[in-house]
Amino acid sequence: MLRVAVLISGRGSNLQSLIDACRQEGFPARIVGVISNRADAGGLQRAADAGIETAVISHRNYADRAAFDAALDAKIRGFDAELVCLAGFMRILTAGFVEDWRDRLINIHPSLLPAYKGLDTQQRALDDGVRISGCTVHFVRPDMDTGPVIIQAAVPVLDNDDAASLTARILAQEHIIYPMAVKLIAEKRVRVQENRAMVDMPPGPEKALISPSTGL
Ligand code: GRF
Repeated sequence: MLRVAVLISGRGSNLQSLIDACRQEGFPARIVGVISNRADAGGLQRAADAGIETAVISHRNYADRAAFDAALDAKIRGFDAELVCLAGFMRILTAGFVEDWRDRLINIHPSLLPAYKGLDTQQRALDDGVRISGCTVHFVRPDMDTGPVIIQAAVPVLDNDDAASLTARILAQEHIIYPMAVKLIAEKRVRVQENRAMVDMPPGPEKALISPSTGL
């Protein structure tokens, strides 16, 4: 069983997807602790409801990022975690922390990286008029929203979409691919080679997502 720590700042719907996956029989990972930098994060209740240990480490109580990250690191090590999942964790981590957890620290982001790093990804995709959007699970590197991509899901952008509808379509896929990524890592099917994450999986049907679908 891979021991996983999850870091959150908010409602924790991705945390919930990981909790639900870990409940499935045979799932090769379990969540040993959830850390939030905000005491009011909704995800803390989700963790508590699932009987998972929680901790609040407020960045406001630390003089600088390095001190905050050191406190995070100590807590994660206290949980004896082997993998750290960022799930809507809204703090930028120091290069030191990221390097200490290299290839054991993953993030979920609501775009097809490297497109649309940062915030407001869905509105920016709409503003640009793209036809395909999606989400990415990746290993974390010091530069924000970079690092080897483990898994991505693509969704169509529809003509009547607004940011809310596109966000919901992407989020539904986030909840699928984040547990998949954790499972692949726990099963040791993911190997990092330079900037690529190689995933040991039988080849899929290689079906393209065409948007708008022509129906042909
Ligand atoms: C998700 O869209 C995730 O991709 C991004 O932050 C959001 C967190 O949502 N990093 P939740 O707290 O998991 O519901």
